[in-house]
Amino acid sequence: MRLLYLYIFNEFLKLILAFTPNNTVWGHINALAGSRIYYTGGVIPNATIWKSIIDFSNTPNQMATQSKEFYYLDVSTGFKINGIIPWVDLSSSSIIPPHSWNAFSLCGSDNSTLVMFGGDFGSTTPINLVFTYNLKTLQWSNPVTSSQPPNKATRSACDFRTGKMYMFSGSSNTVNPTMNILDTKTLTWGVGSIIGAPSGRYDYTVTLLSNGNIVYIGGVDSSGVVKLLTIPLYNINDDTWYSMTTTGYLPTPRGHHSSVLTKDGRIIVYGGYIDRITLVPVLDDLVVLDTGGTVFTWSKANVSTLSPPSRCYHSATLVNHYMIVLFGRNDLYLPSSTMNEVYILDTSDKFDYKWISEYKIDEPVPTINSTYTNNNTNPDTNIALIASTVVLAFLFVLAICLLIFFCRKRNRNILLISGSNEQ
Ligand SMILES: *[C@@H]1O[C@H](CO)[C@@H](O)[C@H](O)[C@H]1NC(C)=O
Ligand SMILES: *[C@@H]1O[C@H](CO)[C@@H](O)[C@H](O)[C@H]1NC(C)=O
Ligand SMILES: *[C@@H]1O[C@H](CO)[C@@H](O)[C@H](O)[C@H]1NC(C)=O
Ligand SMILES: *[C@@H]1O[C@H](CO)[C@@H](O)[C@H](O)[C@H]1NC(C)=O
Ligand SMILES: *[C@@H]1O[C@H](CO)[C@@H](O)[C@H](O)[C@H]1NC(C)=O
Repeated sequence: MRLLYLYIFNEFLKLILAFTPNNTVWGHINALAGSRIYYTGGVIPNATIWKSIIDFSNTPNQMATQSKEFYYLDVSTGFKINGIIPWVDLSSSSIIPPHSWNAFSLCGSDNSTLVMFGGDFGSTTPINLVFTYNLKTLQWSNPVTSSQPPNKATRSACDFRTGKMYMFSGSSNTVNPTMNILDTKTLTWGVGSIIGAPSGRYDYTVTLLSNGNIVYIGGVDSSGVVKLLTIPLYNINDDTWYSMTTTGYLPTPRGHHSSVLTKDGRIIVYGGYIDRITLVPVLDDLVVLDTGGTVFTWSKANVSTLSPPSRCYHSATLVNHYMIVLFGRNDLYLPSSTMNEVYILDTSDKFDYKWISEYKIDEPVPTINSTYTNNNTNPDTNIALIASTVVLAFLFVLAICLLIFFCRKRNRNILLISGSNEQ
């Protein structure tokens, strides 16, 4: 009986302590490492005037606050998007001030470090703009890097073989392009070629193909949202820019969409805004760039299910054949923090994409081993859970003791009374 109560208490506690990210977050960043999708930062718009907010600088202010949250989605277990989502909060381990629009990649000397560079830190821009999270020791650090470039909000791609992280242009300059390369093993910055590079831009996506080409899709340059007919490519092996003319369906130009690469060379581009001033999301929200042939081919995806509202400022991560979309800004409503806006696209059939409600483990998901043995649960939540369980168990036992004590006392009183009655 007591065990049952304890069990119920425990479940109740888990429910209370269950972490839900502030899911109105726009412009958070994501990185897949093993069976965990890590997320950090983002802006939380003012709920009263969210639809008119387009300027997020100098936060916190009336427009928005920035998030300091750091958490992961555990994709080693299945879940339903309307059920309990396996989030694990790691915010208390983070040393980064509130931030958004950062570059973030799995990289580092042992391929087990999350590396973040620059972005918007509101009014508290740190001196050292690189933050690293070691997935083995679970520690953040803020190392000094040599030849650090000026701050900007950009995107990154990591070459796992060399540990080099490539960051093209960004928000600071949309006229003169730059290619900054961080060697995450030596924490030294270098520059790449800009001969033949496209105009400087931000809010684009980067996709590194297996042949060493980084594909730059969309974004905003000094003349507005960039068109998608010609796609800039940067080859990391020979430090050279190319451009590729595409065939097929021509998608609406877009910024702050998402791109994921499937094993068979499809880049699935989802969402994005039509222009930076209105942030109205594109209508053709699911388009696919096939990079398999000698020319790239665009197509509009065939979707046989109902689609969620088109969005921008979200993130998408491919785990096996599931594209996991998180949060972002749609044009219809501001999601509440209880809505847990997670959407899943099944990309396995390239002729028939499906938005589905359940993430299943139908292929093994790799894991990254941490040096901690108990690596499946968040240490913070765990300690909190154990502590509160102990406290509650103590209170429970105390209550039982008091109950027994008072019952006995009452019985004794009753006995006394009955005794006195007998007198
Ligand atoms: C949100 O915006 C409204 C309307 O401008 C303003 O009155 C309110 O103070 C803002 N909220 C915050 C937290 O700044
Ligand atoms: C998340 O939301 C809660 C409740 O609205 C708030 O107290 C908390 O500060 C928010 N966290 C961040 C990182 O903004
Ligand atoms: C590094 O991690 C990525 C992503 O998990 C993986 O694809 C790649 O093979 C890994 N590289 C090495 C050298 O372990
Ligand atoms: C979409 O479906 C139609 C009919 O099944 C097919 O003819 C077309 O090739 C498909 N397009 C794509 C991009 O898969
Ligand atoms: C992680 O640990 C498991 C079991 O201890 C082991 O089989 C696996 O090879 C390890 N993986 C890595 C990437 O070290």
